[in-house]
Amino acid sequence: MTKKPSLREFAPGSPWARAAAFAVLILGALGIFLPSIGAWMGALGAAWFMGTVRPCRGFVIVASLGFVASAATHVGRLPVSGVAYLAWMFAGALLGALPYLLHRITQRRLHGLLSTLPLPLWGVAAQALAARLLPPAVFSVFSLAQTQRSNPPLMEVGVLFGAAAVPFLIYWAAALFNWAWDYDFRRDKVGFGAVSAGVFFVVAIACGLGRLFAGYTIPDVLPAGAVLERCALLGAVGLIAWALTRSGRPDKSFAGRPELVGLLRSPATGEPLHVVTDGGREFLASRSGERFPVRAGIPDFLKAEDITGPNRKYLRLYEGIGGLYDGTQKIGGALGGISIRHLFLKFVGYLEIKPGDRVLETSVGTGLVFSYLPPGTKLFGLDLSPAMLAACQLNLERWERDAELFRGNAECLPFADDCFDAVYHIGGINFFTDRAKAIREMIRVAKPGSRIVISDETEEHVKQYYEKTPLASGYYRNRKEKVIEPSDLVPAEMLDIRSEQIFGGQSYVLTFRKPG
Ligand SMILES: C[S@@+](CC[C@H](N)C(=O)[O-])C[C@H]1O[C@@H](n2cnc3c(N)ncnc32)[C@H](O)[C@@H]1O
Repeated sequence: MTKKPSLREFAPGSPWARAAAFAVLILGALGIFLPSIGAWMGALGAAWFMGTVRPCRGFVIVASLGFVASAATHVGRLPVSGVAYLAWMFAGALLGALPYLLHRITQRRLHGLLSTLPLPLWGVAAQALAARLLPPAVFSVFSLAQTQRSNPPLMEVGVLFGAAAVPFLIYWAAALFNWAWDYDFRRDKVGFGAVSAGVFFVVAIACGLGRLFAGYTIPDVLPAGAVLERCALLGAVGLIAWALTRSGRPDKSFAGRPELVGLLRSPATGEPLHVVTDGGREFLASRSGERFPVRAGIPDFLKAEDITGPNRKYLRLYEGIGGLYDGTQKIGGALGGISIRHLFLKFVGYLEIKPGDRVLETSVGTGLVFSYLPPGTKLFGLDLSPAMLAACQLNLERWERDAELFRGNAECLPFADDCFDAVYHIGGINFFTDRAKAIREMIRVAKPGSRIVISDETEEHVKQYYEKTPLASGYYRNRKEKVIEPSDLVPAEMLDIRSEQIFGGQSYVLTFRKPG
């Protein structure tokens, strides 16, 4: 029997990315046992996780994990016990999670290297606050400087510049790594920032090494470093004040955009929509009285009762994954030696998109394809899952790209006929409740003569990968129907119908043209 080709053979990733992914994994595992590594990896992981979920949810999860980990590992080892022990541990965990929350909120309004600064500044401020509020024995559990006892160069940096220098470097490294990660470590995006921060780190550590080799010894308690603490606090407050004066998201009010509203239709009745403001909130309304709320700039065209069959099942899956979707793609790809970029570029090669075109992606997810489309394209994305759309919104802010997002069902699009220059779909249609309807809808909203592209994984891929993916496998095993490429669902009057299997039969791409 011939061996099935793996995705790696068709989209090989960089060996460096693979080595780096394994290095992070190994350091993460070591960090569980070695606090000097754990502090760096914990900050890295917490900053990453916070960037993938809604801020409040992230705060609750990071604080709870911090509480459980610190309370479990120090029980019986501190001079407090019982309820007081739990209460102090809880307070420490809340203070520990605070910088990640404040970073998450402030960062989205800043760009470039500046967007990496809220975490170290808030981090130093929170550590200073914890040092004053918590009993010394409890603070030692949450003190990042304390974790670096077995890292003499860094401790020497702390002696030179004050204890605050240690958390500053740990938090900043975490923020820098996550920033570069969000941009896929692209040299054109993060090169300047990475080099500047690298020089800063090299100088700081060289100072520490210099002191170490000069034979100095680290005192038991690092000097307070009040200057650095005050600078950090002032910097953090100044940064948030400045960030608040900048408009974060572009104005997504529909009232001032009649051209956009003109493209929208009720998915149920097909009626044109107009904007209604009620109690300070916007709604899109039809003459017959339907009302669709606009939440955080995203019109919601779905009611719970409209989501039936497999759509309901997979909505649960994507609501659970949400912002972690990008991470699982990137981490899985890097560890498996697969270039996700290569996969998406191959797909984009099938689209006929020119700058200025109005383009719709149904089931846009977190918007990964958008990042590969030419600048100047007018992007429209629709998805069933609010969590995926929220992650998409965050990605668009990070990439400094604009797109109109809609919550709706790909089987019932809220757009007028013939209004998009290109319509495409990637990943999702295999498990739609009504695939034929989704294809008819893509055709309806595409302009005559435009190309429509549909791609998803084959049964082979679903069996080889999805059925074996921990946590998600339950959604794919014991299916009643196998995945079948939907070429038979394309109406015969479409032109130039082509279907191709790519990546050694693991995905299919179906393309056709709407008659002009
Ligand atoms: C595998 S993800 C693909 C996301 C994106 N196209 C990409 O390639 O990164 C599948 C997406 O389809 C969405 N989805 C599933 N059923 C849908 C439906 N009936 N209408 C609209 N979106 C749907 C899910 O919420 C999820 O975001």
